[in-house]
Amino acid sequence: MSDGSSREGAAGMGAGRVCLIGAGSSGIAAAKALYERGIDFDCFEKSDRIGGNWVFENKNGMSAAYRDLFINTSRPRMEYSDFPMPESYPDFPHHSQIAAYFEEYVDRFGFRERIVFETGVEHAGLQPDGSWSVRLDTGETRPYDALLVANGHHWNPRWPEPAFPGSDTFEGLQMHAHSYVDNSIFEGKRVVVLGMGNSAMDIAVESSYVAERTYLAARQGVWIIPKYVFGKPVDQLRNDPRVPFKVRQRFIQGLVRSYAGPPERYGLPKPGHRFGEAHPTISGRILDRIQHGTIAPKPNIAALEGETVRFEDGSEVQADVVVYCTGYKITFPFFDEQLISAPDNHIELFRRVFHPDIANVAFIGLLQPLGAIMPLAEAQGAWVGDYLLGDYALPPREQMLADIRADQEAMRRRYVASKRHTIQVDFDDYLHDLASERRAGAARARARGYLPPAQCRPSAATTAS
Ligand SMILES: Cc1cc2nc3c(=O)[nH]c(=O)nc-3n(C[C@H](O)[C@H](O)[C@H](O)COP(=O)(O)OP(=O)(O)OC[C@H]3O[C@@H](n4cnc5c(N)ncnc54)[C@H](O)[C@@H]3O)c2cc1C
Ligand SMILES: NC(=O)c1ccc[n+]([C@@H]2O[C@H](COP(=O)([O-])OP(=O)(O)OC[C@H]3O[C@@H](n4cnc5c(N)ncnc54)[C@H](OP(=O)(O)O)[C@@H]3O)[C@@H](O)[C@H]2O)c1
Repeated sequence: MSDGSSREGAAGMGAGRVCLIGAGSSGIAAAKALYERGIDFDCFEKSDRIGGNWVFENKNGMSAAYRDLFINTSRPRMEYSDFPMPESYPDFPHHSQIAAYFEEYVDRFGFRERIVFETGVEHAGLQPDGSWSVRLDTGETRPYDALLVANGHHWNPRWPEPAFPGSDTFEGLQMHAHSYVDNSIFEGKRVVVLGMGNSAMDIAVESSYVAERTYLAARQGVWIIPKYVFGKPVDQLRNDPRVPFKVRQRFIQGLVRSYAGPPERYGLPKPGHRFGEAHPTISGRILDRIQHGTIAPKPNIAALEGETVRFEDGSEVQADVVVYCTGYKITFPFFDEQLISAPDNHIELFRRVFHPDIANVAFIGLLQPLGAIMPLAEAQGAWVGDYLLGDYALPPREQMLADIRADQEAMRRRYVASKRHTIQVDFDDYLHDLASERRAGAARARARGYLPPAQCRPSAATTAS
């Protein structure tokens, strides 16, 4: 219970029947929270296994993992709070170790049988009585009282918008980072990698070992953070949410500068922002590869023509491959667009989880932390579990809307305007704020007698089935 009190028969009061979409690292964290609370749920997973993005060559076709993908958030940051990764793991494990860790998590806590594998949710529709009707790709339709969405947000590639002039007639290969597998396709080739996020860093570095030439094109500069400072993974530096952000910002920016100097020194564009105002680009290798002369920085692409890529400074190179590391779209293919969608990655949820107008839908892992997603998804799962049981009550709608507005405004003020900065959170701050919101909501729940929200109680549709 979020407030530390134990209430007899809380589960018996009924959270109704819950549908959970996805058994990636966010979905399994939520599934554990529901399972532990005795909430009746089905977790539908398209794939034949758990782990989502972390399953290389996942048969769901949605994973962006490449053969040599290693995490860039360190092991202690990424692990769930009650299930440490094995001591034998390195600081930044390989995707295969991460996927194995998720498998072990599900078995350790014993809820594997609640996951329905190789079953996709095709459509989730809100019914007039407030329940959900969920159509599966098996053809079956099932009624649910509440819906939890953990379908991931790094699987639907965002290609450059609008497409570059000449991209329809370019003679080389154009691909998105999402379909990158390994650097064998770059052998002896001239490769242009576009973007300054973590995909671009990894792919440019991998290309630089085998390609004839690798160019790294960017439309704006970023601060590149090393994986280690003071001999420790950078994300394990003390980051106290009680210290004002500006103070923490100055400290980290000073560290990054003292490590590498300004990005311009490497021929990269000067960042137009300060540290912490863009999603962090973490790479221990990119600056070396640039300084070894194996990667040539370039400004943004202006146009493609035949085999030529022209950049915004007028320079041109011949290229066999262009890799667009231009990010992802937040998409919910199972919702009618007018019900819930995220145009330009924009979606307004209370603390990234609750829809202010639909009481029985919640989103898990739909956030982009400066830090790892998993412990945040774990906290969200527990929060939603409490909510479904009536142990937590949301604030009134007007208060949620005001909170969302304030949050959107703070994000707009802080972050570089970009479709990749619409669901940002600071890891430690988010956990800290969530804990205090859970305490406040537990007090509200106590005051109203621990009643689960009406829409989450078993509906006629469910009880009849
Ligand atoms: C290349 C890359 C590297 C990354 N590295 C890191 C990192 O180091 N640290 C970090 O914290 N984050 C990293 N991320 C972010 C990544 O989003 C998270 O690590 C993590 O995968 C999020 O888990 P998830 O469960 O939310 O989504 P996913 O891992 O995408 O899992 C979603 C699951 O939902 C299932 N699903 C989707 N739709 C349906 C449906 N309709 N019906 C049934 N099932 C469905 C999918 O099959 C999948 O199993 C990285 C992302 C990428 C692309
Ligand atoms: N090793 C790892 O752990 C690892 C590896 C890869 C990815 N990841 C994670 O996966 C997620 C996605 O990362 P990502 O790098 O694929 O995407 P991303 O973070 O969204 O970065 C996209 C990049 O492409 C640029 N871009 C977008 N549209 C463009 C356009 N039309 N023209 C020119 N540039 C354009 C963006 O620039 P603007 O900033 O100007 O928009 C940004 O630099 C992140 O969470 C990341 O941390 C982790």
